[in-house]
Amino acid sequence: MPSISIEGRSLHYREVGKGTPVLLLHAFPVDSESYWPALESPPPGVRLIVPDHRGFGESTPGGGPLTMDEIASDALALLDALGVPSAVVGGASMGGYAAMALTQLDPSRVAGLLLLGTQCGADDAAGKERREKVAREVEANGTAGLVKEMLPKLLSKTPPPETVARLEAIMSRQSAQAVAAAARGMALRPDRRDILSRFQGPALVMVGADDQITPRAKAEEMAGLLPNGSLQEVARAGHLAHLEAPGEILRAVSMLVLEYARVAR
Ligand code: MLT
Repeated sequence: MPSISIEGRSLHYREVGKGTPVLLLHAFPVDSESYWPALESPPPGVRLIVPDHRGFGESTPGGGPLTMDEIASDALALLDALGVPSAVVGGASMGGYAAMALTQLDPSRVAGLLLLGTQCGADDAAGKERREKVAREVEANGTAGLVKEMLPKLLSKTPPPETVARLEAIMSRQSAQAVAAAARGMALRPDRRDILSRFQGPALVMVGADDQITPRAKAEEMAGLLPNGSLQEVARAGHLAHLEAPGEILRAVSMLVLEYARVAR
């Protein structure tokens, strides 16, 4: 996997296809391989760029909580290194939090926004406490318990067994240090409602009909805030809808790319 160096850390990424750049930011607690359906069959005319966030996959860990702004600034450094002035930016769940952080840091780099199974609000006090409990638990006992608890919540009730097995393998290989850092980083993320209401580019919000973590109401709220946003519910899919209905998500990426090309002309 190729990598770039940022302040002495290596940031690994996957890159496939040729055409309009589409940056995809991954969820918690996985790595860039979690976008395998898109990486294995990128839509025509699309250059997919998918980093491993700090500490995940092959990327070097940072120190302390992994904030959404840090994921976003690493992604911007990656676009710089690849000579990409702007990209359609997409993210599933935690990747969506980071996509919104990137939009806040530099909206001029965001040609379009794809938010999958995510939400724009901050954690409440109880949510922050739950994150800290997760971080302490994985630091003390490893990630096996978290993987067992989270895996059924990430997909619909009847996912294909091979999808479950591959997702479980990706989750299981992430380090406890990275998982704890990201749990603490998500707890620190601010509310991004104002960012969405100011973003003028094309935007698509997608949610699996069986999403138990960020249900449809969260998606409706984001689509309602985005001036050029629309909402698409994905049937027979859970939280990580791109793993259960990859065709629909890839068509959505293509539509955003076309819309971007139309607006950019
Ligand atoms: C994810 O899938 O990235 C997480 O479920 C996000 C979260 O815990 O808020």
